[in-house]
Amino acid sequence: MSKRIKIAELLQSGKTGTTVNVKGWIRTFRNNQFIALNDGSTNTNIQVVVDFENTDPAELKRYTTGAAIGVEGELVSSQGKGQTVEIIARRIEVYGDCDAEVYPLQPKKHSLEFLREIAHLRFRTNTFAAVFRVRHALAFAIHKFFNDKGFVYIHTPIITASDAEGAGEMFRVTTLDAVKPPMNEAGEVDFSKDFFGRAANLTVSGQLEAELGALALSEVYTFGPTFRAENSNTTRHLAEFWMIEPEVAFADLQDNMDLAEDMLKYVIRYAMDNCREDLEFLSNRQAEEEKSKPQNERSEMSLTQKLEFCLANDFERITYTEAIDILRNSNPNKRKQFKYLIDGWGADLQSEHERFLVEKHFKKPVILTNYPAEIKAFYMRQDDPKEGVPGPTVAAMDILFPGIGEIVGGSQREERLDRLTAKMREMHIPEEEMYWYLDTRRFGTCPHAGYGLGFERLVLFVTGMTNIRDVIAFPRTPGNAEF
Ligand code: 4AD
Ligand code: MG
Repeated sequence: MSKRIKIAELLQSGKTGTTVNVKGWIRTFRNNQFIALNDGSTNTNIQVVVDFENTDPAELKRYTTGAAIGVEGELVSSQGKGQTVEIIARRIEVYGDCDAEVYPLQPKKHSLEFLREIAHLRFRTNTFAAVFRVRHALAFAIHKFFNDKGFVYIHTPIITASDAEGAGEMFRVTTLDAVKPPMNEAGEVDFSKDFFGRAANLTVSGQLEAELGALALSEVYTFGPTFRAENSNTTRHLAEFWMIEPEVAFADLQDNMDLAEDMLKYVIRYAMDNCREDLEFLSNRQAEEEKSKPQNERSEMSLTQKLEFCLANDFERITYTEAIDILRNSNPNKRKQFKYLIDGWGADLQSEHERFLVEKHFKKPVILTNYPAEIKAFYMRQDDPKEGVPGPTVAAMDILFPGIGEIVGGSQREERLDRLTAKMREMHIPEEEMYWYLDTRRFGTCPHAGYGLGFERLVLFVTGMTNIRDVIAFPRTPGNAEF
């Protein structure tokens, strides 16, 4: 057989009148004559015309939905509707049969819930193939964005002994006997006998190690898996998710916001330029879904319009204190429609508040800054007191996106040793164990800033999918680690 060509390439540059060789999985076989073949390089199938009169009937029976085949034949202009070219098959080889009676994927529309239960097969659907090609393009674009700016990609550890966020949502990593672990004299589990000679866990963030890199390499980023044992069964939370964390020396909160906004716009633009067909497919898919919703819940814009809109407008930048004022005076607050009413300064914002600001009030992405110190992590830089601001704040920023809520969380870091250690004492974070982090503040400290982008939340936004379980191949959520 001649060399295989992928269907995307064939449709772009295949020459009619030449012999071609394609391989893929059968989507449908109709009239004993027309195979719709897909190989995952594009959602467009290539039509293969079978010479059924000269084919063994036993072979014809093997051309079923899901079967893997190789085809050699002539590429010709198509007579039929729906395609410009097709292949007149000369030879078909079946690599793997697929019993249509038991194959879970029928050539019809399946619900996303059902497909989640067969996540090992859902790559074979148009929706998931499109989602994962877009996910790939976004990952590539992120690397390209930072590479072009001279950032160094560093690989931070997956197993750590520290809790970067100080939120205690960690998965323990241990080889100790789960039923009868060794105990110390105080009656506690003796982790000195554990694999690492101490208690260890899966990382919740690579930030602290990224800071070490930034204070030597100037501009670094991480892109890796992170783990949170938070019992949040929502459409926005995973127990295992991928996070991008840039960290920049000699940068402040403004620089940090500029970098994040530039990055988001760059990668969205990249996907729009490079995944046109898939985004159109996903946009149509979303439009179909919208039809089943009540009128007042439908979005005003299509997916591609929403992405264009996001590129065309500056993100709104306001402080937490300003946001509280807006929320306090908002209609849903006055009419007691919020589940959590805003009455004073200092409360953490719930997703209903974030959604109000982004979707109703500003109608565009919003960057909220200078949050109360109380509700943020220990490493954020303490702001100088400001008139009109009731309590101490930190140089934090969260980026809120329509339909998503928080997509980025970051801050300028506290670079002053005395301030940082005082804060750690206040929050009962053991200084001795964090000596390595504090060393950066002891030896040549400098202003620096960084943020974390939740990769799946970005993929959600760009694909228009609504459940985070549908933008990562094998989601890990409370009660589920299948596949
Ligand atoms: O706001 P977070 O917790 O910030 C950090 O971890 C910082 N160390 C980042 C930094 O400054 N380097 O998480 C950052 C982002 C969130 O904005 C959200 O997009 C995503 O990570 N995220 C999650 N995504 C999916 N499932 C979860 N359980 C997530 N928790 C956070
Ligand atoms: Mg956050």
